[in-house]
Amino acid sequence: MNIFNCPVCGKELIKAEHSYKCSSGHSFDIAKSGYVNLLLSKHIGKAVHGDNKLMVQARRDFLEKGYYSGLKDGLCEMVVRHLDGDCILDAGCGEGYYTGAIFDKLESANIDNNITGIDISKIAVEFASKRYKNISFAAASVFHMPIADSSCDMLVTLFSPYCGEEFQRVLRTGGIMIMAIPSEEHLWEMKEKIYDIPYKNQVKPYELDGFGFIEKKHIRYVIDLDSPEDIRALFSMTPYYYRTGKLQQERLYALDKLSTTVDFELLVYRNI
Ligand SMILES: C[S@@+](CC[C@H](N)C(=O)[O-])C[C@H]1O[C@@H](n2cnc3c(N)ncnc32)[C@H](O)[C@@H]1O
Ligand SMILES: [Zn+2]
Repeated sequence: MNIFNCPVCGKELIKAEHSYKCSSGHSFDIAKSGYVNLLLSKHIGKAVHGDNKLMVQARRDFLEKGYYSGLKDGLCEMVVRHLDGDCILDAGCGEGYYTGAIFDKLESANIDNNITGIDISKIAVEFASKRYKNISFAAASVFHMPIADSSCDMLVTLFSPYCGEEFQRVLRTGGIMIMAIPSEEHLWEMKEKIYDIPYKNQVKPYELDGFGFIEKKHIRYVIDLDSPEDIRALFSMTPYYYRTGKLQQERLYALDKLSTTVDFELLVYRNI
């Protein structure tokens, strides 16, 4: 069963062969790859359209090499342990690496699942829907989710924009939210190469309005990047990519290899 609502009038969307339709007559085509575009132009920010093709391809290439498989495994373990129900939403799913991993994990454990991914980047959901055929994907913003109220048992938000009010609205009472955030020393050695005086990440207090904090898991290990392409791909996935001057970027691009710490926290909350 799909959890999409019409972005125009808010009524339930019914899936037909090539489109989703609501009872008011609004219709949204399903792209060849399988995703549906539920983005209204008024909900697309002027400056931010999400990741472009180069960024999505870089992310996929990098993730496929398994550098973040430690995080993926930690996340999947938490999903299995906390899931009560079958409906999961990946809000800001990118090209679907973690969305697909959650599906595979639940399938292999014979756990019923109904997984949906949304992202504001059409190219990201196109990549995702081409690969993960058992998951529903839509282009949509986390700030205006075309998702039915209280329809989700679990929501995951992994390095994507946070919208507490929307996340609370779509989660049922007691539903679980799992969030991944970079911890203090994430990519420390990479930052040492770029900046004269690198700073540690500041981890904000865990409390979030409307949610009860349940637990956290710290995931930390060292990855060995053995090509300039992988170094560049990882760098392009970080916020530093946009904030760093050319000269500092070139210091990094001159490297053939880089070993760097990855340092994450997985935080689990209950919608109260
Ligand atoms: C750092 S990536 C994380 C992607 C994925 N969760 C992962 O970890 O691989 C951030 C994602 O947020 C998406 N994004 C940015 N603004 C968004 C918004 N308002 N609504 C939904 N997605 C958004 C981007 O397109 C991008 O795919
Ligand atoms: Zn409608």
